[in-house]
This record gives sequence, C-alpha cells and structure tokens, in this order.
Amino acid sequence: MTKICIIGAGPSGLAQLRAFEQAENNGAEIPEIVCYEKQENWGGLWNFSWRTGTDQAGDTVHNSMYRYLWSNGPKEGLEFADYTFQEHFGKSIASYPPREVLFDYIQGRIKNTNVREKIEFDTLVRDVKYIEDRKIFAVTTRNGKTDSEKTVEFDNVIVASGHFSTPNVPYYEGFEIFNGRILHAHDFRDAREFSDMDLLVLGTSYSAEDITSQCWKYGCRSVTVAHRTAPMGFGWPENIKEVPALVKVNERTAFFKDGSSAEFDAIILCTGYKHHFSFLPDDLRLKTANRLACNDLYKGVVWNNNPKLFYLGMQDQWYTFNMFDAQAWYVRDVLMGQIQLPDQKTMDRDPVIRQENEDALEDDYACIRYQGAYVQELINETDYENFNIDAANEAFFQWKKAKKKNIMTFRDQGGLISPMDESISPPHHTEWKDELDDTMASYMKN
Ligand SMILES: Cc1cc2nc3c(=O)[nH]c(=O)nc-3n(C[C@H](O)[C@H](O)[C@H](O)COP(=O)(O)OP(=O)(O)OC[C@H]3O[C@@H](n4cnc5c(N)ncnc54)[C@H](O)[C@@H]3O)c2cc1C
Ligand SMILES: NC(=O)c1ccc[n+]([C@@H]2O[C@H](COP(=O)([O-])OP(=O)(O)OC[C@H]3O[C@@H](n4cnc5c(N)ncnc54)[C@H](OP(=O)(O)O)[C@@H]3O)[C@@H](O)[C@H]2O)c1
Repeated sequence: MTKICIIGAGPSGLAQLRAFEQAENNGAEIPEIVCYEKQENWGGLWNFSWRTGTDQAGDTVHNSMYRYLWSNGPKEGLEFADYTFQEHFGKSIASYPPREVLFDYIQGRIKNTNVREKIEFDTLVRDVKYIEDRKIFAVTTRNGKTDSEKTVEFDNVIVASGHFSTPNVPYYEGFEIFNGRILHAHDFRDAREFSDMDLLVLGTSYSAEDITSQCWKYGCRSVTVAHRTAPMGFGWPENIKEVPALVKVNERTAFFKDGSSAEFDAIILCTGYKHHFSFLPDDLRLKTANRLACNDLYKGVVWNNNPKLFYLGMQDQWYTFNMFDAQAWYVRDVLMGQIQLPDQKTMDRDPVIRQENEDALEDDYACIRYQGAYVQELINETDYENFNIDAANEAFFQWKKAKKKNIMTFRDQGGLISPMDESISPPHHTEWKDELDDTMASYMKN
C-alpha cells in the first residue's frame, strides 16, 4: 500500500487529512498516512502559544500569532465549502472572529473523525531524503517528549509546514546600541507590554497594520510606522503616523530618510517571513518569494523537480482555508490516480506562466480575483464542493473598502454574504476598539 507523509497539522495539513477522510467515507481505499506535527496539538498558527524563542523540546517556536488577534480578513473569504460557519456555530456570526473562534471552527469538521489517529504529535521532522534507486523518501523525526529519533520510509511527502514562522530580520545601523527592545512580529505576543510607550514599527503589510492597531487599542502612547517602499495610507488616529524609511538608530533616537528623527521605547520589525525548510535538502527545497504564484510548483502544489513531493499553502494568502482545501483535494486526487500529471515541459512552464500573469496584475483587487480563479481552477478538477468564488471575492472587496474608510472600525461592520450558504453576517455587538476581551465566550454573545 502507498505510504504518505504529511509534515505539519496546521490548516493545510488538516485539509489534506480531511480530503483523504472524505474519499474514505465515500468508499475509496486510501493510502496509509502519517502526519508529523512538532507541536502538542493541531491547528498550526491557530494553536496559540505564549512561548517565544524555543519550545518545550528546544526547537524553534512555530507560533507567530498573538493574544488579542482577530482575523484580518473576512471569514466569508476563508470559509470551508464543506463545513460552513453556520453549521459549526448554529447561527450567523460577525465577520472578523478572534483567533480562538477560528481555532474552534477549524477543529469542528475533524473533531469527530479518525483524523487525529493519523497524527504523531510532539514529532519534529528533522530530515527528508529521496533515495533515487528505490524511489522512496526516508523521513527522520525526533519525538520531543521521548527525545528519540526514528527514520520511516514513504512513497510521497506533502510539506504543509507553513511559511509565516521564520522571521525576516533586517539589520539597521545602531540596532546593537539601541536601549529599548527590538523584536520581530514573530515574537510579539501581547500589546499590553507596550502600553504608554512610543513605538517604531517597520513594514507596511498586515503585521505592521495589525500590530500598530493592536498597540493603539491597548494603550501605547504613539506609533510611528516607517515604510521602505510606500506608506499604508490609512486615515490613522492622531497618535499614529507614517514616515519614510529608517536609516539608522542610536541609543534612543531613530533617523529617517527625510532627515527627521524621533525617540522611541521599542522597535517592532514587521518585516515579513522566509520560506524556510531546514529539514529538506537542496533538490527538494522550495525557494520562493512570498507571492501568489510560487517558483517550481505545478498548479501551485506539485514539486516539479520530483513530482512525488508536494507543498501546500506556500502562496501569499488572500484566500486561506478553502484554498488549502482546494489544493489538498487536488493533491489527493493526483496521489490516488484520479488526476494525471502532464509531461515535464508542461509542468515546468506552468509556474512561469502563472508568475507572468501575476506580474501583470494591477492592484489588490486583481490579485484577489487571480487567487480566486486559482482556487476555482483546482476545485474544477476535484469533487471539492463548488462555491461562489465571485461572492468570496466580493467579501474581500467590501473588506478592503471598509478598511480604506476607517482602519479602526472595519471589523465592526456586518452585511457580508457567505459564499457558501448566502447567510449575512451581523455587525459585531461591540466596537473592536472597545472590545478588550477576545475570548470566544465574549465574541459569541451576539
Ligand atoms: C500573525 C498571523 C496572522 C494570521 N491571520 C490570519 C487570518 O486572520 N486569517 C487567515 O485566513 N489567515 C491568517 N494567517 C495566515 C496563516 O498562514 C493561515 O491562516 C494558516 O495558518 C496557514 O496554515 P498552514 O497549515 O499552511 O501553516 P501553519 O498554520 O503555519 O501550520 C504549519 C504546521 O506545521 C508544523 N510544522 C512546521 N515545521 C514542522 C516540522 N519540521 N515537523 C513537524 N511539524 C512541523 C507547525 O507546528 C504547524 O502546526 C495569519 C498568519 C500570521 C503569521
Ligand atoms: N490579524 C491578522 O489576521 C494578521 C495579523 C498579522 C499578520 N497576518 C498575516 O501574516 C502574514 C504575513 O504578513 P506580514 O505583514 O508579516 O509579512 P508580509 O506581508 O510579507 O510583509 C512584509 C513587510 O515587510 C517589509 N520589509 C521587508 N524587509 C524590510 C526591510 N529590510 N526594511 C523595512 N521593511 C521591510 C515589506 O516592505 P516592502 O513593501 O518595502 O517590501 C512589507 O511591508 C499575512 O498572511 C497576513 O495576513 C494576519
């Protein structure tokens, strides 16, 4: 029997397990599957940890999420087609749930299945080798609890280890003498730590936007956001401002490209993440920028240099959970012989064409449509439940417009339509800026 290794039990790895489970429920004989997960529980980034630096086994902490994180995109854009929010919660909920709520939702559709039995927790994948003459992979893992290592052979490997956990940490002159804390967003856990402080944030993407907003909400004195390329341009409250690129710092003061300077208590580097796969050798390792069409992956999932290896969720993400589903269903069908891969030349050309098309996109709206079309393309080739991609795109468009209107109130809005069951989200019962309690109990009071 074919034996398959899945690396990681986050939303992508769980989507893969779910895809096989669905086939099994429909009477198919599925391969033997082992999923290795280095943490003690499933959920990936949604399985929050207070730890920073190293985990209990001495390995790097995977978590990049923080206390008080609410979804930055609308739930209508990430909903599972085969398990709606309505089905899980028994009612319509507001559109930007906090982390705990989304974690609950992710677990809902697999809780009562045999999926958990296929996962070996506390097990870090340390090394993967392809043994050419036998056409198999040798996967070496270490169990952090027992501190024991083993090597198991597999016919296929699916890498679902995420790509928002290894921070990209730039150096600026003077960092070594700055008197305050310098941290990357990966190590940011609680905005309350920065109350009454003047903060410098570097970066202009989602981490910068959200950590700035969080710190403002939980009482920092001011935030100054320095952009390398372009400002975010939101209508920020008066104690948040955007300035040109950072040039250097000294013990207390930061100096910017326009000649201005200011004093800060802490610097938060919201400078993105690296695709980092320390367990993979050169010939199997994905090397790509954080973009919608990754290098070297046919259909965004098949490793062209060895199509027995697959990657899930490696794209930059507008679409998330339902895109991972679409990918997982596609990979499942390749592995079960339902989908035949084309010749090598066609496979190699595929990501090149996707990247050319991506490079021609003019704005974020076009990027959303592009990723929506990619999800649709994969769904069309499998039996994943079809859903209204135009409606999901529309939810993203409404979200972008609401943010532009007011970055501190966009999460308060209702009225978004589920692309799965057309239910309409209510406004949240309390304004986001006033809701300091992010627990599920509080959120569900609606
Ligand atoms: C701060 C932050 C906030 C986000 N907020 C949102 C949001 O609001 N909405 C949204 O849709 N998306 C959000 N995302 C995007 C996020 O990438 C996805 O929601 C989702 O978590 C990706 O799932 P994944 O399974 O691909 O990766 P991950 O969630 O990263 O899961 C990967 C899993 O692999 C395991 N793993 C890694 N390496 C190994 C190894 N060597 N051996 C064994 N196991 C391993 C990890 O422990 C982890 O469980 C956010 C990302 C970040 C960083
Ligand atoms: N609440 C939430 O749901 C939430 C919160 C945070 C993050 N997230 C998710 O986390 C993921 C990652 O987002 P991200 O913002 O961390 O990463 P990102 O989108 O990759 O953005 C990286 C940012 O870092 C900047 N940058 C890189 N190198 C720099 C340098 N040397 N100096 C200054 N700036 C530099 C980039 O600027 P340039 O434009 O100049 O390249 C860019 O603005 C996304 O999927 C996002 O949705 C979600």
